[in-house]
Amino acid sequence: MSVPVIRTPLPGPKARAIIDRDSTVVSPSYTRGYPLVIERGSGCMVEDVDGNVFLDCAAGIAVNSTGHAHPDVVKAIVEQSAKFLHMSGTDFYYEPQVRLAEELAAVTPIAGGVRSFFGNSGTEAVEACLKLSRYASGRQNIIAFLGGFHGRSMGSLSLTASKAIQRRGFGPLMPGVYHAPFPDCYRCPLGLTTKDCAAECLDFIDHQIFAHLVSPDEVAAIVVEPIQGEGGYVVAPDQFMQRLRALTKTHGILLVADEVQSGMGRSGKMFAIEFSDVEPDMMALAKGIASGLPLGVAVARAGLMAWPPGAHASTFGGNPVSCAAALATIGLLKETLVANAADVGAYLMTGLKSLSEAHSLIGDVRGRGLMIGVELVRDRQTKERATTERDAVVNAAFRRGLLVLGAGKNAIRFSPPLVLTKAQADTAVKIFGEALTEVERGR
Ligand SMILES: Cc1ncc(COP(=O)(O)O)c(C=O)c1O
Repeated sequence: MSVPVIRTPLPGPKARAIIDRDSTVVSPSYTRGYPLVIERGSGCMVEDVDGNVFLDCAAGIAVNSTGHAHPDVVKAIVEQSAKFLHMSGTDFYYEPQVRLAEELAAVTPIAGGVRSFFGNSGTEAVEACLKLSRYASGRQNIIAFLGGFHGRSMGSLSLTASKAIQRRGFGPLMPGVYHAPFPDCYRCPLGLTTKDCAAECLDFIDHQIFAHLVSPDEVAAIVVEPIQGEGGYVVAPDQFMQRLRALTKTHGILLVADEVQSGMGRSGKMFAIEFSDVEPDMMALAKGIASGLPLGVAVARAGLMAWPPGAHASTFGGNPVSCAAALATIGLLKETLVANAADVGAYLMTGLKSLSEAHSLIGDVRGRGLMIGVELVRDRQTKERATTERDAVVNAAFRRGLLVLGAGKNAIRFSPPLVLTKAQADTAVKIFGEALTEVERGR
């Protein structure tokens, strides 16, 4: 089927009826950017309840890594479901959880043995990393980065510093958390040029946080997204990651890579941190790991994960059906999809960059693999953020049948299923260009 096909005004009548019901019974805290009500999906195709067919470059917020309803993943889910749905891996044993831990030990960039703790979501993976960091180090404080997103439960929310609304009204948060500037070199948080941004952001930890706020020997961990996701798809320069690793080693601080969004092949490598050749001590994984089934994993050096029975557990964590889906997902990633993310990602990046000639709204196009952010500005010199225009472009793309999502204050993220083809990338670029034209004309 050629995609997209828009048959009704959006939302169509069936979608409208469901949205109306949702509006009275579902939590209003959800952030729906446009009125998509999905009926089914296949690969990069999403059909809504009115028969409109969309090209998906959002993948349920970077989750449907193998595409919607990949037959291998569905088969693994069906086969496991027919055997048993749950037995709580915290109290009993089952092989899919062991096999997944073995597989993760093989693919994560941590040498010398790795253990996995299983939860159900990204925020639980981060919570487990936080608890283990404190437990293993005997220290209490944590450093995270401005613009970072690590989840919404109270511990991970304390690290999250993406949008104030995500924290507003929920304080006091976990004490002992300090935030450092993240090297967003397109608009350096310290007001520096691209050349100096990464080094100075790193020095801020050493010269400001360690000098004025917390002694490094009381810091348990530094938690970093190698590519900030919700913060706007901002890539940390490799040198920054390398110097961060050196700094943490100097002070015996654990380095935790939150690869909930950037992991599982999306960057064109299995994990984004591999671009810098840095080995973290722990990693938080979720989103794309099980192609859409709920699963979050905290992976740590085996020697670090030395907490006793009862110290941490989760009834549903590492559900056997999710583990089966993850094993099928990782198999597909290794076979073709990590390579496809690198190949088609580079192709899509070139296509999106080529749009900047005709579209002055585009300030920056960045990312790795199929994790691409396009930052919109009102003026390329002043870099004034085009936030309302960003929202309008996301909506204009939707009306034309392309699903993308906002990220940060004024960026748009392209996070398609990793099965995206070059022909689909061409379609995405074409529609995105038309959406930009519509919004630029209306200004
Ligand atoms: C980098 C990162 N960490 C943690 C989370 C939290 O994941 P979840 O929503 O599954 O709790 C997210 C979610 O967007 C994320 O992008």
